[in-house]
Amino acid sequence: MEILDGKKVSNDIKDEIAVEVTKMKANGEKVPHLAAVLVGDNGASLTYVNSKVKSCEKIGFDSTLVKLPDTISEEDLLKEIDALNNNEDIDGFIVQLPLPKHIDEENVLLAVHPDKDVDGFHPTNFGRMALEMPSFIPATPFGIMELLKRYEIETSGKNTVVIGRSHIVGRPISILMSQKGAAGDSTVTLTHSRTKDLENICKSADIIVSALGVPNFVKAPMVKDGAVIIDVGITRVKDETAKRGYRIVGDVDYDNVAPKCSYITPVPGGVGPMTIAMLLKNTLLSRERRKNA
Ligand code: GUN
Repeated sequence: MEILDGKKVSNDIKDEIAVEVTKMKANGEKVPHLAAVLVGDNGASLTYVNSKVKSCEKIGFDSTLVKLPDTISEEDLLKEIDALNNNEDIDGFIVQLPLPKHIDEENVLLAVHPDKDVDGFHPTNFGRMALEMPSFIPATPFGIMELLKRYEIETSGKNTVVIGRSHIVGRPISILMSQKGAAGDSTVTLTHSRTKDLENICKSADIIVSALGVPNFVKAPMVKDGAVIIDVGITRVKDETAKRGYRIVGDVDYDNVAPKCSYITPVPGGVGPMTIAMLLKNTLLSRERRKNA
């Protein structure tokens, strides 16, 4: 069994991006600038956004955090988004999800200009991705593809079972892994809460991507010997012994599943760090596209 070390690979990617930023600076060019919009003070969202901003600083990007109260109206939030769309200095921005209930998430995601949509959540980018056209690929599935590529994991002709059909992970990874080319060419089954006989479907999988958010959902009897396991779960579970009062757990019953696998992503330190690295990669890509536009 080999661990897919997302922490190490994400650091490699960040180092590669930092080299590009150094070159940009040496050439007197503008460096990439990422902005993040955070509405309200959801603890997990605050952690993610802070970590995104901190990573920008480390690799030499400019970053802006736009913190807005959870009482903000949808209209005012849309105005903030418009300002970012029209701010020439900003190369890309994200609106951290989830949003407060009184705000229509769809309206917000539609308001982000596709050329600055480094989360890849706008229908234009999602459609372009599905059609294998240049786009921004959502960071988590992009990170999974990159991890599979860098570990040279054979996906061609393999049976991949994706658990969960979210717009952010399950649906896009099912599209990407069925596309032509590296980390694709897989025969993908997208499963969800209405799927019948999930255990048997999983047992036939060469690769399982679990993006459900239910701790210990994927258990050893569901996994065949030698399978590749990608655990996208990041659930906070109360833990009095932990410094923060909680720990992060994945979807996979790691202790019992890992010994059966050929490769597995740990939680934390697997897919999570890859997500941030690929957001930075998208921001670099956006800067390069804007420079050449
Ligand atoms: N909430 C959970 N994951 C994500 C993500 O990748 N991007 C944004 N904007 N919000 C999220």
